[in-house]
Amino acid sequence: MVLITLEGIDGTGKTTLMTHLQHRLADLEPVFTREPTTSWTGRAVRRGIAEEIEPVAEALLFAADHAAHLASIVRPALAEGRPVISDRYSDSRYAYQSVVLEGLLRDPMGWLRDVHAAWTVPPDQTYLLVLPIDQAVRRLGGKHRRREHFEQEEVLRRVQEAYMTLAEAEPWRFVLVDATKEKREVAGFVEAGIRETVERSRARRRP
Ligand code: TYD
Repeated sequence: MVLITLEGIDGTGKTTLMTHLQHRLADLEPVFTREPTTSWTGRAVRRGIAEEIEPVAEALLFAADHAAHLASIVRPALAEGRPVISDRYSDSRYAYQSVVLEGLLRDPMGWLRDVHAAWTVPPDQTYLLVLPIDQAVRRLGGKHRRREHFEQEEVLRRVQEAYMTLAEAEPWRFVLVDATKEKREVAGFVEAGIRETVERSRARRRP
């Protein structure tokens, strides 16, 4: 079955999009999931973020949560023939941690890919929500809380650039989504794309 992921910098509206998709795509009976997960490995990741743990340790925590996510949710759902839709997935590591690890390792992206290569399940399709940085920062600013280090403007700019580089390298997998558009319009666009992908995959499996 198909594995679909939603990606983008903080403030692009992924969480709202997930809520819309949960209503609009219910008939396909997908498994909706997310990274960091809601399990104890995901809670460990969130604690690591809050405590600004050392960046290599942080990257490995995210990767550990991903491995647990694959085993507990993603692989079983795919084996059952259900579509999986994940709010963030491996590209979040490739985009965010490659920026965070810059200057600490010789080739952060190469290292991150090596860490995942032997065991990850690559997505079939990835919707990348793209938003001008000033708009993302404005949206985040509305939240009354201290910004996590990932939410600093310069970090977000570089993370979005890293996402665009990933998308250029695999144009067949990535679909760019204009996140400045009205929320229902964004949801309708992504819904239509997911329906087409699921339908195509089901048609391939029919005898
Ligand atoms: P997320 O839960 O999407 O943000 P929020 O708590 O605002 O809903 O993700 C938490 C933060 O972790 C977010 O800034 C993105 C970052 N992140 C990484 O740096 N690497 C990763 O692999 C993942 C999954 C998230």
